[in-house]
Amino acid sequence: MRTLSTRPTPLTLACLLVTALFTGCTKRGSQDPADPEQAPGPAEQKIAGATLFEKHCAKCHGALGKGKDGVPAVVGEEALARFATAQEVFEFIRKEMPQDKPGSLAEGEYWAIVAFDLKANGIDADETVGPQNASTFMLHAEGDKADDKQDAAEGDRTDDRVSPDVNE
Ligand code: HEC
Repeated sequence: MRTLSTRPTPLTLACLLVTALFTGCTKRGSQDPADPEQAPGPAEQKIAGATLFEKHCAKCHGALGKGKDGVPAVVGEEALARFATAQEVFEFIRKEMPQDKPGSLAEGEYWAIVAFDLKANGIDADETVGPQNASTFMLHAEGDKADDKQDAAEGDRTDDRVSPDVNE
C-alpha cells in the first residue's frame, strides 16, 4: 500500500503538496474550540457551545433549551432563576450536568455551553466567556444590562473608561 511502484511524477508531487497544505489548514480550523488552552474567539465559542448543547443536553432540556418532561428550561424568561451570574451557572453545570453523566465534559466545553446559553437568553457576549469575566455577566438584570455589568465588575475593569483620577 505505502510503496510507490513508480517514481512520483511532478504532478503527483504537486497533488501531494496541495493535499498536505489543505489538510494543514483543515486541521487548524478544526482544533477543539472548546479547549480553554486554544482560547476560542467569542463567536467560535458560542458555535461550539451550541453543538455541545445539542449533543449533551438537548435530549433532556429540549433542542431549544425550553425544557420538557419535567426538566427545567435553560432558555427563556423564567429560566435559570436560581442563578445570578454566568459564573454560578458554570459551577452548577460543571458539577451536576449532564445529569446522567455529571462532570463528563472538559472545562472549556462547559464554558462554551455557558456562552451559548447566555446568548440564547439574550446576553450575546462580545468576549470569550471564562473564569476571568463570568461573574460580570448578570442574568435577569432588569433594565440596563451594561450598568449591571459595570457594577459587578467594579474596580477591576477600568480599561473601557477613562478614570478622572488618572493624574492623582
Ligand atoms: C439526563 C437528563 C439531563 C441531561 C442530559 C442534562 N440535564 Fe440539566 N437538568 C436535568 C434535570 C432533571 C434538572 C433539574 C434537577 C436539578 O436542578 O438538578 C436539570 C437542571 C439543569 C439546570 C438548572 C436549571 C434551573 O434553573 O434549575 C441547568 C442550568 C442545566 N440542567 C444545564 C444542563 C446542561 C448545560 C446540560 C448539558 C451539558 C444538561 N443540563 C444535561 C436533566 C438533564
